[in-house]
Amino acid sequence: MASHIQNDFASGFLDEFKSFATDAIHVGQEPEQWKSMAVVPPISLSTTFKQYGPGNHAGFEYSRSGNPTRNCLEKAVAALDGAQHSMAFASGLAATLTITHLFKSGDGIVCMNDVYGGTNRYFRKVASEVGLDISFADCTKLDVLKAALKPNTKMVWIETPTNPTMKVVDIKGCAELVHEYNKDIIVVVDNTFMSAYFQRPLALGADICMYSATKYMNGHSDVVMGLVSLNREDLYERLKFLQNALGAVPSPFDCYMCNRGLKTLHLRMKEHFKNALAVAQFLEADPRVDKVIFPGLPSHPQYELMRRQCTGCPGMITFYIKGKLEHAKTFLSSLKLFALAESLGGYESLAEHPAIMTHASVPENERTILGISDTLIRLSVGLEDEEDIIADLDQALSAAHPKK
Ligand SMILES: Cc1ncc(COP(=O)(O)O)c(C=O)c1O
Repeated sequence: MASHIQNDFASGFLDEFKSFATDAIHVGQEPEQWKSMAVVPPISLSTTFKQYGPGNHAGFEYSRSGNPTRNCLEKAVAALDGAQHSMAFASGLAATLTITHLFKSGDGIVCMNDVYGGTNRYFRKVASEVGLDISFADCTKLDVLKAALKPNTKMVWIETPTNPTMKVVDIKGCAELVHEYNKDIIVVVDNTFMSAYFQRPLALGADICMYSATKYMNGHSDVVMGLVSLNREDLYERLKFLQNALGAVPSPFDCYMCNRGLKTLHLRMKEHFKNALAVAQFLEADPRVDKVIFPGLPSHPQYELMRRQCTGCPGMITFYIKGKLEHAKTFLSSLKLFALAESLGGYESLAEHPAIMTHASVPENERTILGISDTLIRLSVGLEDEEDIIADLDQALSAAHPKK
């Protein structure tokens, strides 16, 4: 099968962040921090730490408030995000709820209208129940975002590219607009789809960069975790307090695993990009496909913005299969190499049906507005061989659209 990749697939994007791989491998991992001089950080399972005298300790008291393995991970993530501080949480949603605890009843939150279904559900069905004033706005349009800001607005929540319709939000444009309106409004970017390797929201003016580390940051589909990076000291102090006070922390084992995953983040992301571009080009040329949405294709409406604010594109592709729901279902159940499963960002290729699976919690009328239709399919293109990935998609498309 002919190769579908362009050789210069990353050309026109921002240059790779300086010393990214070196930082991923070394920051926070210094052997000298351990008596054993272990090159690989140990998994520190102890829940409690001996004190020399009351209140006189070696930096750790109780594992919820601080843990040596978690520290290694948090230091590495901060370096990769170009941040002063990073904090790890028990899941992406645990990070979201801890951030939201910065606010009180009556405070306003403006959320991008196309976000992960669980984020939408949390804001709509949980945060709003405790008196937070939640509204949704299409942040791809700066005038729409501007109109959504109110005197009580305390946080603007952006996800880019959005899940699953891959709209790209201008982080710098949003941050400037929001901070001009009120410099105290906290701009949060959910950077899950991009990982630290492809996008640095803090450098673009965001106050907080968060992740479901369950995805690319860990990258091996074996850890559920959230990460938060930031530079503002006041916010860090408050979130550090909340990390302990709310207690949604990850286990030392999971911290070890995610820290390990970060060592190959740069390698994985480059390969995800290469494979995804090949798949996107294949699908775009295929008559059994109505439309492909991949921000690394020139046909994506915000391709230029993507190249301005990112160093590349991850393995996420959304496409509309020709036909109806039954075609989407046949396609998905005919895949052999791709697993039909929720989640994304692991080394393995996954496919899913957002309207029935990840985004079922988004009200139907909103799904229609967002374009999350019965024929929309989301792929997380993994690290298998390009030819095998494309051959699997090809045979599943043939199953959905047999030649008459
Ligand atoms: C973009 C995005 N943000 C947040 C989350 C929530 O993270 P978690 O599942 O780790 O709680 C997800 C999960 O799929 C996600 O895709």
